[in-house]
Amino acid sequence: MKNNKQQNVFAELNIFRGTNSTKPEFQTFKVPFQQGASILDALIWINDNVDESLSFRYSCINANACKECMMIVDGQVEYACLKKLQKSGSKLEPLPNKTLIKDLVTDIVPPKEKLLS
Ligand code: FES
Repeated sequence: MKNNKQQNVFAELNIFRGTNSTKPEFQTFKVPFQQGASILDALIWINDNVDESLSFRYSCINANACKECMMIVDGQVEYACLKKLQKSGSKLEPLPNKTLIKDLVTDIVPPKEKLLS
């Protein structure tokens, strides 16, 4: 007999939260696991369904053209739009060598392109 019940599988993302002026902490979110989904897909799902204050950056959505979604995934620099969501979950952190703005967003504007004050 065929079982038509769909099993919900979730992955846990342990995400850095905070700014330069707040005490940093990690917050865990459960996201629906879908084969082939990216870390960016999961972040957008969290933003749409759980916490709209979660900050991360992207522009081209899975085209790997803008390079804005770069972050640390399980200790490695990755593009969130290319890195696949794992059933076992992941730890997400902002880039360590850039000025933190909020959560996973860092100042990625090259110094030569910044406006003079
Ligand atoms: S969202 Fe543009 S490179 Fe990842």
